[in-house]
Amino acid sequence: MPTSLSGRDFLRLLDFTTEEIEYLLKLSREFKNLKLTGTPHRYLEGKNIVLLFQKTSTRTRCAFEVGAMDLGMGVTYLDPGSSQMGKKESIEDTARVLDRFYDGIEFRGFAQSDVEELAAGASVPVWNGLTDKEHPTQMLADFMTMKENFGTLEGLTLAYCGQGRNNVQNSLMITSAILGVNYVNATPAELEPDPAIVEVARAFAAESGATITVTNDPVEAVANADAIYTNVWAAMGEESQFAERVKLMSPYQVNAELLSHVKNPDYIFLHCLPAFHNAETEYAADMAERFGVKEMEVTDEVFYSDHGRQFQQAENRMHTIKAIMAATLGDLYIPCV
Ligand code: CP
Repeated sequence: MPTSLSGRDFLRLLDFTTEEIEYLLKLSREFKNLKLTGTPHRYLEGKNIVLLFQKTSTRTRCAFEVGAMDLGMGVTYLDPGSSQMGKKESIEDTARVLDRFYDGIEFRGFAQSDVEELAAGASVPVWNGLTDKEHPTQMLADFMTMKENFGTLEGLTLAYCGQGRNNVQNSLMITSAILGVNYVNATPAELEPDPAIVEVARAFAAESGATITVTNDPVEAVANADAIYTNVWAAMGEESQFAERVKLMSPYQVNAELLSHVKNPDYIFLHCLPAFHNAETEYAADMAERFGVKEMEVTDEVFYSDHGRQFQQAENRMHTIKAIMAATLGDLYIPCV
């Protein structure tokens, strides 16, 4: 029986079974092959989607736009600066209107409850492009990249050196548990993950055989890891907490000394991007001037080392988001090789 996700929303990974996530990963691989061989795949010709962004984006927006165009769809991008959304019209009312124009709605915003409200009110599939609690489309790209590099996810250990209370951490912990990847979060005691998320992840892990660990020791976290992942110390909207984060997160910086403790010589480095690995961007230069940190969550040396897979990971956003759109919008069954 082929997997069908037709008509489904994509809001959180825990709404999907292991088989469904594995199907999306296979479909992503298929779309990557089609793209790389220049094979047309306009399976969704005649459909249109809308992208609602309350926050800035490069990868997520471009992945949805290029993915939709490759699939033959029309795309509209709306942000609060160029629409009534959030100013004269609520997100919910905006979605109710757009539901009548479009076949699918992507939403990047502040609250997970907003995307869930949208999905409840819309008859077409809604895709979560990042909220305060989850970053589900990022997950498929991350696990696809690990699978490409190691050939399998079985037996792998992923170490996330970053604060335990952000959307990427939440989604990585849950997805690892569902897919049977051992997961370690190295984080300061003050920023440990929400116990409810850990509990949910451990329940999935009991089924998949994965281990879910939270530690305050970054060396312990990376020693047995195959993939080392990090992320910004302060997420979008948390910039006011930066001074405190520099103090708390500096011991968790992914640098050459920390990585000298990794036993697997073929380990990979992952980052969802954008990364603060030098002071050459406007934001990072400002942080460097105010807090004296020229490199933050990852050093330039590690970022540009042979172990870095962050740009492969970024490319995979496009293939995986295409798979999510094709699977949820299409009533076609796309066989996976
Ligand atoms: N990783 C990620 O979501 O990138 P953008 O913020 O550029 O979309």
